[in-house]
Amino acid sequence: MSRNHHPNLWPPFTSITTTPPLEQVVRGEGAVLYRAEGPPLIDAISSWWVTLHGHAHPVVAEAIAEQAAKLEQVIFAEFTHPQAERLAERLAGRTGLERVFFSDNGSTAVEVALKTAVQWWHNRGEARQQLIAFDGAYHGDTFGAMAVGARSLFSEPFDPLLFPVTRIPWPHTHWNDEEVEPREQQALDALGLALRTPTAAVILEPLVQGAGGMRIVRPQFLQAVEQRVREAGSLLIADEVMAGFGRCGRLLASQRAGITPDLVALSKGLTAGFLPMGITLAKEAIFEEFLGTDPTKTLWHGHSFTANPLGCAAANASLDLLEVEPEQHEQFEQRHRSRLERLAQHPRVQRPRLCGTIAAFDLVTSGTQGYLNPAGKVLRRLVRDQGVLIRPLGDVVYLLPPLCISETQLDQCYEAISNGLEALPASDL
Ligand SMILES: Cc1ncc(COP(=O)(O)O)c(C=O)c1O
Repeated sequence: MSRNHHPNLWPPFTSITTTPPLEQVVRGEGAVLYRAEGPPLIDAISSWWVTLHGHAHPVVAEAIAEQAAKLEQVIFAEFTHPQAERLAERLAGRTGLERVFFSDNGSTAVEVALKTAVQWWHNRGEARQQLIAFDGAYHGDTFGAMAVGARSLFSEPFDPLLFPVTRIPWPHTHWNDEEVEPREQQALDALGLALRTPTAAVILEPLVQGAGGMRIVRPQFLQAVEQRVREAGSLLIADEVMAGFGRCGRLLASQRAGITPDLVALSKGLTAGFLPMGITLAKEAIFEEFLGTDPTKTLWHGHSFTANPLGCAAANASLDLLEVEPEQHEQFEQRHRSRLERLAQHPRVQRPRLCGTIAAFDLVTSGTQGYLNPAGKVLRRLVRDQGVLIRPLGDVVYLLPPLCISETQLDQCYEAISNGLEALPASDL
């Protein structure tokens, strides 16, 4: 490698002391990234789970360019614009959550959901401060989102400043798991107990916890959670930043899970990965508590780039693409299935699992389990050398490709992982 780390860049989630110099990407097209040096790479993780339809998709690129020539930004507290109105109407129609609040990214979409839930109770004159979240959850890196996320290496310096959250086990499962039911029951019992304390909201990542390790739960568990939340008269927040917008085979992961949350956070695939934008969807009954002439009832929250017209144009184009060829996301799971079944035969693969476009497994390793396990990093390099970009979460390996990936490219991804597993040293990892 001829490069050093760039002297002016500070990359996210990265210690440059322990990471090789970052490579420069000069172009992307479909599922492929083109580097300044070296052969092209198949992006098997949709560049941090955002590139829903593939890189530089012409439909989205054109929608943004067209909008940029008309209106690039307007103060959204004074004005609205056609792209925001169209997007809000479409999302409300498709989800049944009638109100759309715009922000800038996944963390802010979650922050807005949390603040809305807490203020909803405040506006009703009932102080409910308890928030309930799940073990292993990741909801983002701003303070509120961090607080509801699991405490980890990422949050450690800030732990003393994070507000308290009641935590419930997440009964994640995998193929041929025969012990899931008692774990689900244990989690539901813990939830029932926690809900005896007046609770503002329960927040969860429906169907799949992403950064926590692609940890999948069964729809029936989520339905049982919702039932308990309703019985307690609390609110349910679905963080669909990763799992939503087609990733799990339906527009919302909640729809596939058979639950109807009060608030839903969206981002990532929303704009097809072209521009940063977050959305918090809310039921009309939530919005109604913020009405009235009393100024303390207003949701005093906003961002400079709220409902940025370019972001809204990208999101409308992203939704157009989902609607034009719905089978692309609705049937993606079938494309993974037989490939994952074959890979699951490998002795270093355990707990295979699948949801929509997301296929995952845990590495069989002798090292520490979890994010700090080094095996994933070694595998990542071995797979990268074969032209495929993956980014295991410690010992969790997953594929989360763009919808446009071809059959041949998907085969290449599985083959690269299979070869990488063969080459993975047996000792220490
Ligand atoms: C479920 C979930 N919520 C929130 C976030 C935070 O989103 P962002 O990185 O856009 O702030 C992420 C990011 O990976 C996520 O997976």
